[in-house]
Amino acid sequence: MGKQAIILGLESSCDDTAAAVVRVTAAGPAQIMSSVVAGQDQLHAPYGGVVPEIAARAHTEKLDSCIKQALTKAEIRLSDVDAIAVTAGPGLIGGVLAGVMCAKGLSAAIGKPLVGVNHLAGHALTPRLTDGLSYPYLMLLVSGGHCQFLIVRSHQDFSRLGGTIDDAPGEAFDKTARLLGLPQPGGPSVEAQAARGDPARFTLPRPLLDRDDCNMSFSGLKTAVLRARDGLVAQKQGLTRQDRSDLCAGFQAAVTDVLAAKTRKALAIYRDEAPREPSFAVAGGVAANRAIRSKLESVCVEFSTRFVAPPLALCTDNAAMIAYAGGLQFLAGQSDDLTLSARPRWPLDRSQPALLGSGRKGAKA
Ligand code: KG4
Ligand code: ZN
Repeated sequence: MGKQAIILGLESSCDDTAAAVVRVTAAGPAQIMSSVVAGQDQLHAPYGGVVPEIAARAHTEKLDSCIKQALTKAEIRLSDVDAIAVTAGPGLIGGVLAGVMCAKGLSAAIGKPLVGVNHLAGHALTPRLTDGLSYPYLMLLVSGGHCQFLIVRSHQDFSRLGGTIDDAPGEAFDKTARLLGLPQPGGPSVEAQAARGDPARFTLPRPLLDRDDCNMSFSGLKTAVLRARDGLVAQKQGLTRQDRSDLCAGFQAAVTDVLAAKTRKALAIYRDEAPREPSFAVAGGVAANRAIRSKLESVCVEFSTRFVAPPLALCTDNAAMIAYAGGLQFLAGQSDDLTLSARPRWPLDRSQPALLGSGRKGAKA
């Protein structure tokens, strides 16, 4: 079985406060002993988006109780932990700082090592935690704050093939829902309406499909929905239920087409490396969308590549992924000291230029 360690992980980079305990093995599978997530949706709902200052204060208030619950559920004491892993970026700086300061305090108090983890590495390594994918695998992170293709070669070797240059797809779903008067989060409400709609009634753009790279753009699509909505309102002073469903279906079809076309390009690049066990994983809240998921699955069939979508609770922000990524670092002999700093930006692949977009939840890479 090899070396193993029990890791306490902390996550507070956006609007979820989370703590988890994971038993990590250097080469083999890991065991999630507990995973606790306290969301902040209700705190931010009146403002229509995440308010960084409110998020940071809520993290400071909630971290202690999340840690206590995680230890209780794992049936261990703090002193049983071998190391403390914490998201040290990228993300909203107040929240990241809250987690890093808490982890430093715990580390100093119990004399156990501290490991700073890149939040995106946590997401990118999740398919290995949940499905034991072997390196290298291709990953699409697609949520309200992220959208990028990564080839994952090891716990510290990631190549970014491309990503969104403006909004993340989840953000576009949320904005579309707002434009059409549908409830938040927009993804599930747009998906539900789209099921009754005609995707061909409105011609909506598929941005950047003419470019031979893996970059994407979603903000123009939202503007096209706005124009189509305004056109209908001007014509007949309002939207019918069918208009709404057709707009949702058209929007969802456009996002699906863009993600599928760019996944084909990314898979072609990845398959050129002749991976031993070709695998593609999709993670993030948007991976919950059935139309998108099944389209990506069929693209993988075209490329004779295994398709994996980890359970949603581990696709969205959580601390088990941070404990796991931190555990792999720790077992490889990597840890930090009390000079560990919180970083608002922290690209996983430093060889690539920064993407232009920052997304609703702040700059990610
Ligand atoms: O990963 P996540 O929980 O949080 C971050 O953004 O980090 O993703 C949330 C996003 C929201 O924008 C939400 O509208 C979107 O994922 N989402 C969906 C669906 N369920 C959630 N988008 C499309 N279809 C869905 N069924
Ligand atoms: Zn995330």
